[in-house]
Amino acid sequence: MRTDSTRARPVGETLRMTSVTDGNTAGGPESGPSADVLAGQAAYNRWVLAAYDIGVLGISNRFLWRCPTPRLRRLYDAHASDRHLDIGVGTGYYLDKARWPTPNPAVTLVDLNQNALRTAAARISRYAPRTAVRNALEPVGELPGAPFDSVGVNYLLHCMPGELATKTGQLLTAIRPALAPQAVLFGSTILAAAARQSAAAGALMRLYNRKGIFHNLDDHAEALDRALGAAFAKHQIELIGGVATFVAFNPNPPDQT
Ligand SMILES: C[S@@+](CC[C@H](N)C(=O)[O-])C[C@H]1O[C@@H](n2cnc3c(N)ncnc32)[C@H](O)[C@@H]1O
Repeated sequence: MRTDSTRARPVGETLRMTSVTDGNTAGGPESGPSADVLAGQAAYNRWVLAAYDIGVLGISNRFLWRCPTPRLRRLYDAHASDRHLDIGVGTGYYLDKARWPTPNPAVTLVDLNQNALRTAAARISRYAPRTAVRNALEPVGELPGAPFDSVGVNYLLHCMPGELATKTGQLLTAIRPALAPQAVLFGSTILAAAARQSAAAGALMRLYNRKGIFHNLDDHAEALDRALGAAFAKHQIELIGGVATFVAFNPNPPDQT
C-alpha cells in the first residue's frame, strides 16, 4: 500500500548511480559502463524517440520482427502491478497504454539514457513516476519505490551486450534486491531468429548490430530459458515471430540467483 507522501513526490525526481557525461548518456570513461553498453542506449535521442512509436512499435514490430505491438501490450495489462519497476523505458508507450490494477500505480522508471527517462516520465506524469539513471547490467542499489511487485524489461535484453544467458543473469542479479518475494518479471526480446524472417529484417538486424544499437545476433530462446530458470521458481516463454516474450514468477532468494 502506498502512502500519500509517496504519491506527492515530484515528477522527474531522479537518482543517479553513475556520473552524467551529457544529456544523452550516463557514465565516465574510467568507472562507467563499457562502450558496448553505452552504444546500446545511445541511439535514443529526442528525434529517435519522437519517431519510435511509429517506426518501431507501428512498423518494425508487425512487419519485420512479426510480433505486433498489441501482443506486447498484453504483458503489461496482465502483469503490471501497483508497485511497478520498468527498466529500459523508451518512450513509455506501454506504461501509458497499460491497464493498471489501480488508478494510481507507483511506477519507477530506470534507464541509462536520460532522454528516455524524461520522455517516459512526462508521458505518464499522471502517475508521478520516480526515475533513476542506471546501467541495468550492474547492481541497481537503492531504488525509489522498492520493493517492487512487478518489473517490466521490454525490448531491453537485445540492446545489451553479452551472451543472452549471461546478460539476463547479470540483469536479474542486478535487480534482485529490489524485488518483493512474490514479484513477477515480464518482457520481451528480439532473438537472432528474427533476422531470418525476411531480407529486410535481416538487413536491419545486421545494421543495428554493426552500430551497437542491438546486440542479439547470437540470442536464442534456450539461453533465456536457462537464465530465467536459474533465477525464478517458475517461468514461461512464448515465441511470437522473431520475439521471445517471457513472464517469470517468484524470484529465488538473492543468494541463489
Ligand atoms: C528498444 S528500447 C525499449 C523501450 C521500451 N521498453 C519498448 O519496449 O518500447 C531500449 C531501452 O533500453 C535502454 N537501455 C539500453 N541499454 C541499457 C542499459 N544497459 N541499462 C539501462 N537501460 C538501457 C535504452 O535507453 C532504451 O530506453
